[in-house]
Amino acid sequence: MKYLFALCLFPLPGFAQDTALTDPTLIATGQQAFLDYCSACHGEEALGENGPDIQGSILKDVTEAVKGIDQMPEIWLEDGKPEAIAAFLMSLNPKVAEIKLRLEAAKQD
Ligand code: HEC
Repeated sequence: MKYLFALCLFPLPGFAQDTALTDPTLIATGQQAFLDYCSACHGEEALGENGPDIQGSILKDVTEAVKGIDQMPEIWLEDGKPEAIAAFLMSLNPKVAEIKLRLEAAKQD
C-alpha cells in the first residue's frame, strides 16, 4: 500500500512515473487486476485472444484503452489500478515498454 500513497502524494510526469512502475508488489496487484478485467479478451499473458497482444503497454496505453476504443468497451478501474496494470504489462515485455516510453518522451520534447 505504501507505494500507492507515494504515487498519489507525488504525482510525477508521465515518463518518470512509468519508469517507476517496477515494484514487484505493484506488478502482482496489476496481474490480479488484469486477470479480473482484461484477460477475458487479451488472454492471461496479454498475448491476444479476442483482443490484440498488449504486452509492453505503458500507462498511457492503458488509460487511453479503458476509455473504450472501437471493439473494446469502456472499463471502469479503481484509482491506482491503471498504474498497477501498466506495471504488469510492462513487466511482460520490458523492451517494447522501453521503446514506447522513449517515443512518448520524444513527443513531449
Ligand atoms: C471485451 C473485450 C476486451 C476487454 C475486457 C479488454 N479489452 Fe483491450 N481491447 C479489446 C479489443 C477488441 C481491442 C482492439 C480495439 C481496436 O483497435 O479495435 C483492444 C485494445 C486494447 C489496447 C490497445 C492495443 C493497441 O495496439 O492499440 C490496449 C492497451 C488494451 N486493449 C488494454 C486493455 C486493458 C488494460 C484491459 C483491462 C482493463 C482491456 N484492454 C480489456 C478488447 C478488450
